[in-house]
Amino acid sequence: MRPVVVPPGVTLRGGVGADAGAVAAVQVGSWRATYVGLLPEAVLDGLSVGDKTEGWARVLGEGGRHVVVAESGGRMVGFASVGPGRDADLDGATGQLTTLYVVPGAWGTGVGRALHDAALSRLADAGYRRGVVWMLSTNARARRFYDRQGWMADGRLRVQQFGGTVVLDRRLARSLVAG
Ligand SMILES: CC(C)(COP(=O)(O)OP(=O)(O)OC[C@H]1O[C@@H](n2cnc3c(N)ncnc32)[C@H](O)[C@@H]1OP(=O)(O)O)[C@@H](O)C(=O)NCCC(=O)NCCS
Repeated sequence: MRPVVVPPGVTLRGGVGADAGAVAAVQVGSWRATYVGLLPEAVLDGLSVGDKTEGWARVLGEGGRHVVVAESGGRMVGFASVGPGRDADLDGATGQLTTLYVVPGAWGTGVGRALHDAALSRLADAGYRRGVVWMLSTNARARRFYDRQGWMADGRLRVQQFGGTVVLDRRLARSLVAG
């Protein structure tokens, strides 16, 4: 894995239970900015930081999934989480980039790349040799980003329903082994 390059003024650290609210707020804000026009407005309006906080409090409290957070000026500007590959077709050597969200104001500043690299390093350090990530097939910014980071579609597709709207998710994969 290449060394993690953190933009000036940004710090990365492991997530802790007390981060649950900030992580949820970043996720909801980033979702709304990203999926406007791609998911129904009612679904985006209905997202609740409170509900997401409960979920993240459980995950961060369990410590089962690795979470990395990025901060700048005392505020959280993004986070990523990783864990074992969840799909039935994956072997034990495949880990998953489960989430990667940056606040819109920090897009294109290197925060996304820093979080991505730190998250993948955690997977590699845990012994995973390959990674997968699921993304909404219409999320063009994410697709461009993942292309630049060496991910390729592995042919797996998944259908999800959001408030009656059917969307297609695409799975990407890449090696976590140097060379
Ligand atoms: C997907 C996402 C994490 C990608 O973030 P991003 O803003 O494109 O990526 P970065 O912040 O790393 O920015 C990279 C660009 O910033 C520029 N940049 C500016 N300063 C930089 C720095 N110090 N270091 C690296 N890149 C820098 C570069 O031009 C770089 O582009 P390049 O890779 O073509 O050289 C972000 O857009 C996001 O959170 N989107 C919403 C949520 C989402 O879709 N998540 C994925 C769901 S699967």
